[in-house]
Amino acid sequence: MKTTQKAITLLVTMIIAVVFVFGNTVNAQQAKAKPWPVPDKNKTMKAAVNLKDASVISSGKEAWAKNCKSCHGAKGLGDGPKGASLKTFPGDFSGAAFQGSTDGELFFRTNVGRDEMPGYEKKIPDANERWALVAYMRTLKK
Ligand code: HEC
Repeated sequence: MKTTQKAITLLVTMIIAVVFVFGNTVNAQQAKAKPWPVPDKNKTMKAAVNLKDASVISSGKEAWAKNCKSCHGAKGLGDGPKGASLKTFPGDFSGAAFQGSTDGELFFRTNVGRDEMPGYEKKIPDANERWALVAYMRTLKK
C-alpha cells in the first residue's frame, strides 16, 4: 500500500513537472528589447543615398527579403519564421517607437548588431545597400 502511494506521488510529481516545463516553453514570453543607444556622431549621420528613391527602396526590399525577413517578417512586425524562437522580440518596425529613430540610428544598429541581431557591416559590404535597407525600413511605417 505504502509503495503504491509513493509510486502515485512520484507519478503525479512527474506529470506536474512535465506540464510545467512544457507549458512554460509554449507560453515563453519573448523579452522586450532594451533601449539601444547610438553614439551621437552615428545618430546624426546622413544617408549616402536618396532614401525616397524608388529604385533604392526596391533594392532595399530585395536585401531585406534575403537577410532580414526570416526574423523581422516581411512587414517588419517581428513575425518572421525565425523571429518567434528568439529570446528577444525583434521589434515592431511599423510603430512610432521604431520609426522615431534617426536614419543614422537605424543604419548603425544594422551595421553593428547586438546579441541575437547580427551585424551586417561585413555580411553586406556595400554601405549603399545597407542604406537601402534603411530606406526600405522607412516604408514599413503604418
Ligand atoms: C537572427 C534574427 C535577425 C536577423 C536575421 C536580423 N535581425 Fe534585426 N534584430 C533582431 C533582434 C532580436 C533585434 C533586437 C535586438 C536588441 O534590441 O537587442 C533586432 C533589432 C534590429 C534593429 C534595431 C531596432 C530598433 O528598435 O531600432 C534594426 C534596425 C534591425 N534589427 C535591422 C535589421 C536588418 C536591416 C536586418 C537584415 C539586414 C536584420 N535586422 C536582420 C533579429 C534579427
